[in-house]
Amino acid sequence: MSKGYLISLEGGEGAGKTTILEKLEKYFQSKNIEYITTREPGGVHISEQIREIILDKDNVEMDPKTEALLFAAARRQHLVQKVVPALEAGKIVFMDRYVDSSLIYQGYVRGMGVDEVFELNQYAIEDLLPDVTLYFDLSPEVGLGRINKDDSREVNRLDLEEGSFHHKVREGYLMLKDKFERFEVIDAEKDLEAVFTQVIEVLVKRGVING
Ligand SMILES: Nc1ncnc2c1ncn2[C@@H]1O[C@H](COP(=O)(O)OP(=O)(O)OP(=O)(O)O)[C@@H](O)[C@H]1O
Ligand SMILES: [Mg+2]
Repeated sequence: MSKGYLISLEGGEGAGKTTILEKLEKYFQSKNIEYITTREPGGVHISEQIREIILDKDNVEMDPKTEALLFAAARRQHLVQKVVPALEAGKIVFMDRYVDSSLIYQGYVRGMGVDEVFELNQYAIEDLLPDVTLYFDLSPEVGLGRINKDDSREVNRLDLEEGSFHHKVREGYLMLKDKFERFEVIDAEKDLEAVFTQVIEVLVKRGVING
């Protein structure tokens, strides 16, 4: 039984997950609360090697299920090597995207099936679902508008998808919110301070931190 808390940050492109994570780091440092922030593959060597296979442009013949299995394999190694030890040490672990991203992007949007992708991931994660999932909800137009304005940010494959893709991402997350009690919806269209305030309120409400 782990003693820490696992908190995942989910949502579409430009929702503010990474930006809020930076603010959370400052907040937790100032309060002297033990935490780590991470993202898959999270600097774990084996997971990074797997990721290179997934992202290799030459691997055009990769089957969607092979890809899903590779994601799950990278996820497991990251959990075992980095996340579980931190939880066992009583730390709060913030993850910039986790299993729900697979459920949405591969299961829902790409059509492999949410339940199927969940089942496949269960083997990898066993019962290690987040205690709380912060879902940053905003319209794709606002999210993509933010990304386009940000010159420092590299445009990735997902940013270039059509509008309908991003709408489907939002639709999928809103469906998961009704499926999982751990989901907390954050109104991510508000300004950064207002978004951060909502996040802190949720963490207090869920007993992760004291008010
Ligand atoms: N509440 C906000 N209001 C206005 N701009 C914001 C807000 N939150 C984030 N931004 C800006 O939007 C851009 C995208 O934010 P960020 O990179 O944190 O999104 P993300 O959710 O991590 O996206 P991705 O899934 O693509 O990694 C950044 O330029 C950031 O400064
Ligand atoms: Mg990000």
